[in-house]
Amino acid sequence: MLITGASSGIGAACARRFAAQGAHLVLWARRRERLERLAQELRDAHGVHVSIAQVDVRDRAAVQQAAHTLVKGGAVPDVLLNNAGLASGLSKLHEGDYEDWDRMIDTNIKGVLNVTRELLPHMVARRTGHVVNIGSTAGHMVYPGGNVYNATKYALRALNEGMNLDVAGTAIRVSSVDPGFVETEFSEVRFHGDVERAKAVYQGFKPLSADDVADAISYVVNLPEHVNVLDMVLMPTAQRNVYVVDRDGV
Ligand SMILES: NC(=O)c1ccc[n+]([C@@H]2O[C@H](COP(=O)([O-])OP(=O)(O)OC[C@H]3O[C@@H](n4cnc5c(N)ncnc54)[C@H](OP(=O)(O)O)[C@@H]3O)[C@@H](O)[C@H]2O)c1
Repeated sequence: MLITGASSGIGAACARRFAAQGAHLVLWARRRERLERLAQELRDAHGVHVSIAQVDVRDRAAVQQAAHTLVKGGAVPDVLLNNAGLASGLSKLHEGDYEDWDRMIDTNIKGVLNVTRELLPHMVARRTGHVVNIGSTAGHMVYPGGNVYNATKYALRALNEGMNLDVAGTAIRVSSVDPGFVETEFSEVRFHGDVERAKAVYQGFKPLSADDVADAISYVVNLPEHVNVLDMVLMPTAQRNVYVVDRDGV
C-alpha cells in the first residue's frame, strides 16, 4: 500500500492502522525524518516491510522517479491512498494570495494526478487494485473563504468519478473518503503556523480524530473485491454540514 502525505494526520494514522493489519507500506511525504521515525516504529511493532521516499507530489519528476523505483523493485502497490493535501489560507477570493492558490491547486489536484498517472497504469495492467482519494466535505459544499480549497476538493470528486469510469472492465476499485472536521495539523498549515487560531477551529465540540478517518478507510479497503464505496462522507456528530457546527452541545 502506498500512502502519500504519511508524515502526519490521516496519512500517519492510516500507516499505523494498515501496518497493524499486516500490510507492507510505502510512505511518501516531504518531511523525511518523520517518515523515518514512523517507518521504524511500524517495523518494530508489526514486522511489516516499510519503505519511505521523500517526495513532493507537486514535483512531477520526483514522483516519476519514486514510482519508477517501486515498479523496478516489483513493489507496485495494490492500494494507493492519495492523501497528501492541504488548505492554505482562508481569504475572500478577491483578497486571495496567489501562492496559497498555487500550493493548493498544485498539491490537491495536480499532485493527485501526478501520482495516479504513474501508478494506475500498473494496476490496469494487473486489472486489479484500489485507489482511495481523500476528499473532503469541502468538495460537497462551499463555505466563506473556502473558495480555492473548495474548488480543489470539488475537482478531486470529479477526478474520483472519472477514474472510476475509466477503469471499467477491470476489477480496480476507486473510492473517495470525504471527512468533515478532523483534528490534525491541517488547520496549522491553513493558518500558516498560527497554532492558537488553528486550535480555535476545534473548540467547543468533538471533532473527528485521524484514527476515526483511518477506521473508515480501513472499512472501505477491506470490503470484498466486488464491493466498492464510491464516496463516503463522514463528519463529527456535532457538525451538520460543512459550516454548521454545534459548538456548545455534544
Ligand atoms: N483535517 C481536516 O479537517 C480534513 C478534512 C477533510 C479533508 N482533509 C484532507 O485530508 C488530507 C490529509 O490532511 P490531514 O488532515 O491529515 O493534514 P496534515 O496533518 O497537515 O497532513 C497532511 C499531509 O500531507 C502531506 N503533504 C502536504 N503537501 C505535500 C506535498 N506537496 N507533497 C507530499 N506530501 C504533502 C504532509 O506531509 P509533508 O508536509 O511532510 O510533505 C502531511 O503528511 C488532505 O488531503 C486534506 O485536504 C482534512
